[in-house]
Amino acid sequence: MSVHVKKRADYQPPAFLISTVNLTVNLHPTATRVVSVLTINRQGDHNKPLVLDGDKLTLKSLLLNKNDFSDFTLSDEGLTINTDEDTFELEIHTEIDPKNNKALEGLYLSGGAYCTQCEAEGFRRITYFMDRPDILAVYTVTVVGDTDLPMLLSNGNPVDKGQIDDGKHFVTWHDPHPKPSYLFALVAGDFDLLSDTYTTMSGKEVALELYVDKGKKAQGHFALASLKRAMKWDEDVFGLEYDLDIYMIVAVDFFNMGAMENKGLNVFNSKFVLAEQASATDDDFFNVESVIAHEYFHNWTGNRVTCRDWFQLSLKEGLTVFRDQQFSADMTSPLSNRIKHVRVMREHQFAEDASAMSHPIRPDEVIEMNNFYTVTVYDKGAEVIRMFHTLLGPEGFRRGMDEYIKRHDGQAVTCDDFVAAMQSATEIDLSHFALWYSQSGTPEISLSHQFNAQTGKHNFTLSQTTPATADQATKQPLYIPVAIEIIDEDGNQYVDEQGLINNGLIILDTPSLSFSVSATTEKLTPVLLGNFSAPVKVDNPLETDGLLTIFTHGKDPFNRWDAMQTLYSRCISALYDDVTAPIEASLWTDLESAIKSEQGNLELLGECLVIPTFETLCQTRKDIDVARLVAARNQFCLLFAQQLSKVLNHIFLHIDTGDYAYNQSAVIARRCKNVILAHLARLPEFEHVVVSQFDNADNMTDSLGALKAAQYTRVFETLMARFETQWCHDALVLDKWFALHATQPKDDILATITMLSEHPQFSLGNPNRVRSLVGSFAFYNSEKFHALDGSGYKFVTDYLLKLDGINPQVAARIVTPLTQWQGFNADHQQLMKAQLARLLNHKGLSKDLFEKVSKSLA
Ligand code: ARG
Ligand code: ZN
Repeated sequence: MSVHVKKRADYQPPAFLISTVNLTVNLHPTATRVVSVLTINRQGDHNKPLVLDGDKLTLKSLLLNKNDFSDFTLSDEGLTINTDEDTFELEIHTEIDPKNNKALEGLYLSGGAYCTQCEAEGFRRITYFMDRPDILAVYTVTVVGDTDLPMLLSNGNPVDKGQIDDGKHFVTWHDPHPKPSYLFALVAGDFDLLSDTYTTMSGKEVALELYVDKGKKAQGHFALASLKRAMKWDEDVFGLEYDLDIYMIVAVDFFNMGAMENKGLNVFNSKFVLAEQASATDDDFFNVESVIAHEYFHNWTGNRVTCRDWFQLSLKEGLTVFRDQQFSADMTSPLSNRIKHVRVMREHQFAEDASAMSHPIRPDEVIEMNNFYTVTVYDKGAEVIRMFHTLLGPEGFRRGMDEYIKRHDGQAVTCDDFVAAMQSATEIDLSHFALWYSQSGTPEISLSHQFNAQTGKHNFTLSQTTPATADQATKQPLYIPVAIEIIDEDGNQYVDEQGLINNGLIILDTPSLSFSVSATTEKLTPVLLGNFSAPVKVDNPLETDGLLTIFTHGKDPFNRWDAMQTLYSRCISALYDDVTAPIEASLWTDLESAIKSEQGNLELLGECLVIPTFETLCQTRKDIDVARLVAARNQFCLLFAQQLSKVLNHIFLHIDTGDYAYNQSAVIARRCKNVILAHLARLPEFEHVVVSQFDNADNMTDSLGALKAAQYTRVFETLMARFETQWCHDALVLDKWFALHATQPKDDILATITMLSEHPQFSLGNPNRVRSLVGSFAFYNSEKFHALDGSGYKFVTDYLLKLDGINPQVAARIVTPLTQWQGFNADHQQLMKAQLARLLNHKGLSKDLFEKVSKSLA
């Protein structure tokens, strides 16, 4: 297979610029005609030809300065125009086939509606173009369609519309803001429309329009209200105001990712728009609000200031994820948000860094750009932005952001430009810190502690090391802000004699550093990485009593939660060594009093009662025997339920969730209740509680909470069948049902999944369905995916071979667990690699899969 590796170091400024794009798109299911008129200017003194990208296009005709033009060459990758002109107009006629576009990139049909997805390199599937983000042009777009497509949408403001002969009509749109091609969008169809308005801080009225499938209007109100909250928040916190007369959001069912920030015309996966009490969980509401905000925030961080090249993706994504996280924290609660995001880091980003796909937040080499919309670029990228925020403080960060926008509005820039803007707002030298952009891998920090009884001195040494990753053999020490508290058994706080700890923060920018604390007590407990102040692993040597001291006296609620997670993980390790090993009785009494002490704080309590997932446990272990780890975790959960059922049930019965509402206190109450229910469900005597919650639920959070808990009971299948009857008309709800089936650790799970893939609501062409059924199995049914007869690996591989021919982008996502074999023992590794080899040997493998599979076998 011939593949082209693109390197960050090879960036060249464009040889031509395109200043205006005039598109006419005449829609037809299998033969859409696109006419593109471009104004082009040669850059500098050279005689290179003009190279345009194109993919799966049929060229119909070509005119240069309005004359027929034939001095060009055509290839699978595009069109090369041989001309001496410096300034010229090019008119390109192409034909495309949206109906047979199953990869969902470029223009495609989702249900009956046309829509586009151009990021990262989809515009080249619509017309020949310099499809790179540093070509900023002003677009005028005329959409022509049959009258059964009453809504014809594109970016910017509508400027003209009318009927044309043969039953067709058109709408012309003009977007005054120069933009890269990846932000182009077109939508055409028949939708229900929710309208509203928003008045910006400078008094401008903006029309807000939300387009959803017919009959789903009631499910759109929350998204629209979320949009208004996001618009207000960005004005309040960053002084950033919306810049067009209209903001449109369209919800579609067929979508590869979450959503897309096209200028003035966002296209969303319907699962991140539609939400109402009966069919959406609290998590769904949360996700809708946060994705709506994320795409809205891109209008400044992404659209007005965009990326020079795709290696800079984290420039817009890391920053925008950080912004949406801050927004969600303000709308809901900082603690549960922080825990949610740290879970993502530990479960998924650490796993990526430990695999052959490890890359810095600003990657150096790419084969298929779609493979780099990763937890590293997005979530670790956001952690790096968060560290700027920690170091500069909120005011300093705001000054840096103001400067960033002031310098670069209307430009396509790099991560270095962002760092430079931040640098202008602080005295701290950020040059060492910037290494976070180029070094991959998860740093590990540890703290050694010696007490000298004679001098009454505690000596601490804080160290860092970053293990080599697949992409980088040698690592340098990073600049790491480590939040730290030092407390004694009564919770008294201590400071260091050297004064390295400032406002609870110590900067670790060398391999190690030492400090001392004088105290009469021998028992000092260091509390590291408050609020997860850096995306690192902590090697925590504390014993149970130290962890409980943190839980009882730690100031930082994140650390208190984290201490419990470490404690559970320790217990699971002991059971991993010997599943019959007894757990000290004192642990249960300690836990019981810890739980009782937090009864008034259901938020922290609910999170503290969650046992680390299998995936999280994997990140701190090597040479894993999956069956043993699963058994150890199950055993711990069972003991937990048995030993603590009295106190848990007591709390369960006293949590008042009241009448349904989506607000913070109700969400927290439901969350805690459902976490407890999942524990109790492991004991047969609580089966009826599960059934009764299912019977009486008036909202999806409680219905689904009951179903999840039922996974440990005999009533699972019965409840699932009832749920199906109730919800078979609603595909988004059925996705939850598919996922619950797929994560059942039962022996005939593969037969079940095969059967479900024949379900009338299932479709191999719909990414949401595929992710919920096959993705959930591969990512979260650890026991059966990793079965030692290799059946789980083979099943997923067989499926990927089918899927790759249809939608390679989604196939390349789902292959992830198979490529992350590094932590497992040799038996697992061998079986996983055998399936990866099958993929690699497959003729016609997509470059999406090729990149990930070949790397993981290298
Ligand atoms: N920019 C979008 C977002 O983060 C993601 C689009 C990625 N699409 C893709 N096909 N890789 O909001
Ligand atoms: Zn984004």
